[in-house]
Amino acid sequence: MTKHIVLLPGDGIGPEIIDATQQVLETIAKQFKHDFTCETQLIGGSAIDSVGTPLPDQTVEACKQADAVLLGAVGGPKWDQYPSHLRPERGLLGIRKALDLFANLRPVKGFDSLLNASPLKQEIIQGSDLIIVRELTGGLYFGTPSERLANGDVVDTLAYQRYEIERIIDKAFQTAQIRKKKLTSVDKANVLESSKLWREIVEEKKTNYPDVVVNHELVDACAMKLITNPTSFDVIVTENMFGDILSDEASVLTGSLGMLPSASLAENGVGLYEPAHGSAPDIAGKGIANPIATILSAAMLLRYSFQMENEAEAIEKAVEKTIESGYHTADLHVNGGKQVNTKEITKMIIKQI
Ligand code: NAI
Ligand code: MG
Repeated sequence: MTKHIVLLPGDGIGPEIIDATQQVLETIAKQFKHDFTCETQLIGGSAIDSVGTPLPDQTVEACKQADAVLLGAVGGPKWDQYPSHLRPERGLLGIRKALDLFANLRPVKGFDSLLNASPLKQEIIQGSDLIIVRELTGGLYFGTPSERLANGDVVDTLAYQRYEIERIIDKAFQTAQIRKKKLTSVDKANVLESSKLWREIVEEKKTNYPDVVVNHELVDACAMKLITNPTSFDVIVTENMFGDILSDEASVLTGSLGMLPSASLAENGVGLYEPAHGSAPDIAGKGIANPIATILSAAMLLRYSFQMENEAEAIEKAVEKTIESGYHTADLHVNGGKQVNTKEITKMIIKQI
């Protein structure tokens, strides 16, 4: 199959992990006789530096034409003091909006050989395998007004349109149907009006998915259960900011943020795939970043955008075998095993494929 992928390396460790992942994709193409063409475009701080905007029109156009988009990460201290329209995150929020990426899927699955890389007790995290379905186009990150008022006070707005909630709830029920058929809807319905509507819509929708068992959980209680009883979850669905926070928390189950992939999907358009972590400026340029979150994001790309299940599994198995053989990057605090850098772990994964 011939497919065109736009690569958006971005900032910090972005270029390093995208380079590693491109090599993995090329290996898959060769092995499975596909023709993947890759094109690199600007986003984030590096786009601000070279063309004066975090999201050039050319990037948006290229992404819209592509079969899939693979992104590294954006941001870093260099741009922290820039005015809000000239911030790297604007690039990321802008491309999510432009492609109407409303569903962010974040699978969290621990590897047995990494059980001791987590600060949590092994008996608690063993067997954890869940997926967070995060709403991506609404909520506090997009509500207007969002500004500093003349008197020095501030305002942010939490807004949701009914259809935005409906489509993410449908996506979550469908995701649960192909897993363990267990859905936890997370909100703050005891306080927030948006959460009350969220809960009503889940109740309305559940009659369409009689095979799925659904329960409601308040976000604060869910945050606690995620690390005290993670195996009680299968699919978690929640709004934008709650999902942002809970998915970073859930990464602790896998030992490192550097292990967590994500897929951002539109209703009918192109999908965007990226690691759940940021640009890790503290380790950028050192060659020690963990590329696995991005490599596993490429596996999700093959699965969801290209319907290449065997190819996706080939990547996932190669990552698993590499980790099981005791090799890991510096972010994983594993007892024993051998520490390797970005290039070395990538080579091992490629060899396993
Ligand atoms: P971060 O995820 O970049 O880093 C948190 C910690 O995890 C750091 O100690 C980092 O070194 C480590 N880490 C993250 N990914 C790693 C990897 N692949 N391998 C090894 N270690 C890894 O989050 P932080 O520090 O809060 O933010 C840094 C910058 O990234 C900020 O400018 C922030 O705005 C941006 N950011 C961008 C995101 C995106 O592009 N999707 C998401 C989150 C943050
Ligand atoms: Mg985040």
